[in-house]
Amino acid sequence: MKAVHVLNGPNLNLLGAREPEIYGSETLADIEARLSVLCKPRGVILYFRQSNHEGDLVSWVQEAGQAGEPVILNAGAYSHTSIALHDAIKAAKTDVIEVHLSNIHARESFRHRSLISPVARGVILGFGALSYDLALEALLTRGEAAPATAPALT
Ligand code: DQA
Repeated sequence: MKAVHVLNGPNLNLLGAREPEIYGSETLADIEARLSVLCKPRGVILYFRQSNHEGDLVSWVQEAGQAGEPVILNAGAYSHTSIALHDAIKAAKTDVIEVHLSNIHARESFRHRSLISPVARGVILGFGALSYDLALEALLTRGEAAPATAPALT
């Protein structure tokens, strides 16, 4: 794996200040700093982005897909609503791991359904900021351990 794209959706720029009892006290910059510590020694380039706009996320998924580089995606509330993101992930020729800080299944019923999960390679949720680290570890482990022809993740 040469690079990984970590894409963050709406309101995640407010992490740290936004409902810390649900999302924790770490900021998005803290998460980026931790992931970059994991990526650097392995020579993996980290593209870490956030947008409040659905179309930006769609374009970034397309970009990663065209480059054949994996994506860790926390689409925030768009996870529950965005057919456009579902379609972009389906079309992208790369693994997309869906992450959430909170356990969306233990929250309001409108968060229980994700339109992204059916097209994601895997889903990691409920571990706070650690969800991102776990997703990255899955990609790094897969990259190191598996031959190129092996199925991505089992
Ligand atoms: C979230 C869960 C979503 O339901 C919510 O809209 C978010 C954050 C999470 O990381 O727990 O913005 O994706």
